Amino acid sequence: MISKYDPFQKKILHHTANACLFPICALHHVAVTTVEGIGNTKSRLHPAQERIAKSHGSQCGFCTPGIVMSMYTLLRNKPKPKMEDIEDAFQGNLCRCTGYRPILEGYRTFAVNGGCCGGKANGSGCCMNEKESMTMMPSSLFDSSKFQPLDPTQEPIFPPELMTQRNKEQKQVCFKGERVMWIQPTTLQELVALKSQYPNAKLVVGNTEVGIEMRLKNMLYPVILAPAWIPEMNAVQHTETGVTFGAACTLSSVEEVLRKAVAELPSYKTEIFQAALEQLRWFAGPQIRNVAALGGNIMTASPISDLNPVLMASGSKLTLISMEGKRTVTMDEKFFTGYRKTIVKPEEVLLSVEIPYSKEGEYFSAFKQAYRREDDIAIVTCGMRVLFQHGTSRVQEVKLSYGGMAPTTILALKTCQENLSWDWNEKLLQDACRLLAGEMDLSPSAPGGMVEFRRTLTLSFFFKFYLTVLQKLSKHQNGPVSVAREGSWGKSELYIITLLLLLSFYSSVDASEAQSVPGFVCFVSAKDVPGSNITGIANDETVFAEDVVTCVGHIIGAVIADTQEHSRRAAKAVKIKYEELKPIVTIQEAIEKQSFIKPIKRIKKGDVKKGFEESDHVLEGEMYIGGQEHFYLETHCTLAVPKGEDGEMELFVSTQNLMKTQVGSLGVPSNRIVVRVKRMGGGFGGKETRNTILTTVVAVAAFKIGRPVRCMLDRDEDMLISGGRHPFLGRYKVGFMKNGKVKSLEVSYYSNGGNSADLSHGVMDRALLHLDNSYNIPNVSSMGFVCKTNLSSNTAFRGFGGPQGMMIAECWMSDLARKCGLPPEEVRKINLYHEGDLTHFNQKLEGFTLRRCWDECLSSSNYHARKKLIEEFNKQNRWKKRGMCIIPTKFGISFTVPFLNQAGALVHVYTDGSVLLTHGGTEMGQGLHTKMIQVASRSLGIPTSKIYISETSTNTVPNTSPTAASVSADINGMAVHNACQTILKRLEPIKQSNPKGSWEDWIKTAYENCISLSATGFYRIPDVGYNFETNEGKPFHYFSYGVACSEVEIDCLTGDHKNVRTDVVMDVGTSLNPAIDIGQIEGAFVQGIGLFTMEELRYSPEGNLYTRGPGMYKIPAFGDIPTEFYVSLLRDCPNSKAIYSSKAVGEPPLFLSASVFYAIKDAIYSAREDSGVTEPFRLDSPATPERIRNACVDTFTKMVTVLS
Ligand SMILES: Cc1cc2nc3c(=O)[nH]c(=O)nc-3n(C[C@H](O)[C@H](O)[C@H](O)COP(=O)(O)OP(=O)(O)OC[C@H]3O[C@@H](n4cnc5c(N)ncnc54)[C@H](O)[C@@H]3O)c2cc1C
Ligand code: FES
Repeated sequence: MISKYDPFQKKILHHTANACLFPICALHHVAVTTVEGIGNTKSRLHPAQERIAKSHGSQCGFCTPGIVMSMYTLLRNKPKPKMEDIEDAFQGNLCRCTGYRPILEGYRTFAVNGGCCGGKANGSGCCMNEKESMTMMPSSLFDSSKFQPLDPTQEPIFPPELMTQRNKEQKQVCFKGERVMWIQPTTLQELVALKSQYPNAKLVVGNTEVGIEMRLKNMLYPVILAPAWIPEMNAVQHTETGVTFGAACTLSSVEEVLRKAVAELPSYKTEIFQAALEQLRWFAGPQIRNVAALGGNIMTASPISDLNPVLMASGSKLTLISMEGKRTVTMDEKFFTGYRKTIVKPEEVLLSVEIPYSKEGEYFSAFKQAYRREDDIAIVTCGMRVLFQHGTSRVQEVKLSYGGMAPTTILALKTCQENLSWDWNEKLLQDACRLLAGEMDLSPSAPGGMVEFRRTLTLSFFFKFYLTVLQKLSKHQNGPVSVAREGSWGKSELYIITLLLLLSFYSSVDASEAQSVPGFVCFVSAKDVPGSNITGIANDETVFAEDVVTCVGHIIGAVIADTQEHSRRAAKAVKIKYEELKPIVTIQEAIEKQSFIKPIKRIKKGDVKKGFEESDHVLEGEMYIGGQEHFYLETHCTLAVPKGEDGEMELFVSTQNLMKTQVGSLGVPSNRIVVRVKRMGGGFGGKETRNTILTTVVAVAAFKIGRPVRCMLDRDEDMLISGGRHPFLGRYKVGFMKNGKVKSLEVSYYSNGGNSADLSHGVMDRALLHLDNSYNIPNVSSMGFVCKTNLSSNTAFRGFGGPQGMMIAECWMSDLARKCGLPPEEVRKINLYHEGDLTHFNQKLEGFTLRRCWDECLSSSNYHARKKLIEEFNKQNRWKKRGMCIIPTKFGISFTVPFLNQAGALVHVYTDGSVLLTHGGTEMGQGLHTKMIQVASRSLGIPTSKIYISETSTNTVPNTSPTAASVSADINGMAVHNACQTILKRLEPIKQSNPKGSWEDWIKTAYENCISLSATGFYRIPDVGYNFETNEGKPFHYFSYGVACSEVEIDCLTGDHKNVRTDVVMDVGTSLNPAIDIGQIEGAFVQGIGLFTMEELRYSPEGNLYTRGPGMYKIPAFGDIPTEFYVSLLRDCPNSKAIYSSKAVGEPPLFLSASVFYAIKDAIYSAREDSGVTEPFRLDSPATPERIRNACVDTFTKMVTVLS
């Protein structure tokens, strides 16, 4: 939180900011409060910290400080916020674990319109009484009556030293760094003189553009001028014609002023303000809006700026100043002269911006479509203005300005001129759309792609504008009408690494220039590896590239320097000569070139040919499911500490797989390498094998220089190097009867494995073993091909191929229901397995609770009644459609590699009775350590407070299986239980001789009698193992089941969608910890929403990942979770096959988010029916706005297609 005394508003302001973008020089005269400053576990937690923890809103905890500070800052500004304020405050925060619901529920207790009384309300109205039938309601998972009250009087005061500054005369300040000089003038004259002296200097207010350019685009600006404290640059003036903002006014302050004006002025005067506010609402998150300036947005001259189309369509006036004086220009089609260029001269400064009032008879709207509604940059954005001749609906002037359709913000000049003096009616609409379709053209290779979608959006936006104006005109003339129909690594380590990421075949590396960078220590490459440079599950890849670089992201070498900044600079100075080879990037290219990583797996059952012959219908199709980036909030990181003796080394790593991290590259036996994991900031499978690459590089560097080395990858590096979920292509042929019963299935799965095998065969095995999802298919023939391509090796990701396998099953299931003309839920139900059925891999289903989950979900979601309401809604609305879908899942539990189904534990009991527990699993936010403490507590019969887990390490429990496949609680839990039983057995005689004694008494006696108080435990899952050749054996110990029903609403014009409601019923056996299990279900579900509806990885034809960071790659944010989200755990379903009758929960729920995808498809069907198209259609995953919009065929899509 940044706090400063604002001399212009004469008050102390508190706001949130992004630490990575906020320039340290801009902290002059400013107080910073971090999460450590508001409370801690040693003294007292602040209510904002306590409530997120107690409401289970923190899993891996990596996002928690940011979220706490967003909440804290809101509370400092508004101690009694509304729920909407809380939601707005989190627009710039992300969490990858929790699914957001528990965070919002915990903080709801601060809200005046959502606050929880802790069950103390008199009579009705307590949230804890609502929806009692939902087995697990969020509010029952914590007791808000025990929360500390918020006491705003107890907050730290603003530093008096900074307050006293306000009366002193301010002087120009200058900070000089190694390469950059930062000058902060205090008067406009000083600024203008400096700009004349340094015409190439950048003016930095928020640094949200310049910071990105310097950090990510390798730009260097030697002189920076900071005008944030100059009065004229921050002034706000209400004039006769509009409101004039100083160019350094932050977007948040602009928002505040405009909101006030809208509330106070007649609405006809504020049409433009309202449109600007709508754009600002979806402009980044508050952390950006709080610091970014209006002038910065204009002068960046980005073609996808959100404000420039509003300023251009409204003809806003810009005042420029230089040593020669002032001049005022209009923001029109001449203002931007090229990509990121304007008519402003280098020596000029943008002083102020006047946004005009609208006139009577003038209407204005702005629209934006992005990948994600919250905190995302636009795909297409626009500002639209129409002025009518006085008292008529005849158009006097139209201005349509678009962003995202050219290298600059543009005006649709031709369309606007042609429309003059027409009536605002259907003819105008049609003519304008025809003209826009011609004028807003894009070449097929236009930067940014999505050509058809972007062109359609220009028409869709105009249509929305047309309707809005029509409605306003009618209201004006006739009163209201309805248009619904249309409508901590410590500081002691010395060195940091930066990696080189280059392409293709290289012949030489020259690091000589890097040596002149300050702080340079050395360069390491394949030559420095003392042991083996070969790595990978199949030993088919190298850590450091040797001659051939097989993907963008394959490491050639690493620079070690004294700081991260220096190592980055030095890495950029390394020269590599290389020759580009023709890469294989896509699955299609791999199929063409038959580039597969053998073996090709098959599962066959029954007689497929006969099955097709007996079927009433046969349907063929194809579906593509894109990959997914793990986006754990903590990227890969390693600290390597050489011990100086016999090759010993200690590695502190963020890994799910300690055993594989005992790197062989050092050429020393495993007994010299200790790997330690305290906890991870998320893993999701991404740290199961791929962390070995970075760890090896760091270990080799530490070995070479004999000193500790650490590295934490930047997000873009992490996304490039570490691979993600496998993209899949499924080709299917399905035979079925008229009633929808499936008879026969032939299916081929192709996955994009990347440049090495890694875990791709395991992933493919699981996809094939889940190709039935939950349906009984008598005849199956399936094949699985792992494609070898030149992408970073794809790897494990929550679900491990299961979601892809099941997704394709649901694709043919939804198509065949359509073909039969039957309700999809009926067709799904008649195909569901029954107790005792054999799967396609011949495993008998025992304890099959799926049908119970199905019935409970149908009833708790009120499926049939809501379906009728949706049908009614769709009849009433042409451009908004709703859809609903119910989807089951059956997920096999066990590693499909049998020997991995083993675990170990170590229990030490100390003489004071305290217990130190260690087991083979790692903690990454999934609550494993909590569950293991619970198991030990129950086994030993002592309170959990006596048990402690410090870390996971290879010198306590050796040969650990990765924490993966959802089985970690099952197998480590049994190992812990077994170790505890050994101790209990030894204590038995002592307990018998002193039955009334306490735990401490027994332990003391045991010690005095020389009885060992330390024991190991071991467990392996019995009888698992499956043979693909013979289709025999048991791949899974048991199955977890669940069902979800989701409802969505799509905007057919823009492709946007809202998740209206989701109901989940999940069988997790007898839950070990309901709060953790519900957290896992919600987190997995929301991660699945990302997979199936939002997260899209885009590559260049050379295999260079474009979507390399949060700016381009969108994971779900707070606003993307279902507005209503009910999760219940199936009652009375103990599982005899796992510890204390529980079931695995980490991965199984993820696939249930397919219900959202197929609900979207259902809604699109309704839109297509309105255009007379009813046949099954292909919808690939993720269902992005582009795919949704293009699938909703209508007049506008046809217009664009015809003109193409
Ligand atoms: C996470 C994130 C999300 C974003 N989301 C959006 C979004 O949704 N929509 C959108 O449109 N943009 C978005 N942006 C872009 C950016 O935030 C805006 O363009 C912002 O308004 C820039 O303001 P600033 O003060 O931070 O600019 P700075 O980085 O400080 O400066 C930007 C440029 O403007 C020049 N400049 C600044 N003031 C003046 C002046 N008075 N006279 C002359 N030149 C000047 C500087 O020299 C520099 O070239 C986003 C950026 C980030 C990092
Ligand atoms: S708890 Fe939010 S990212 Fe892990």
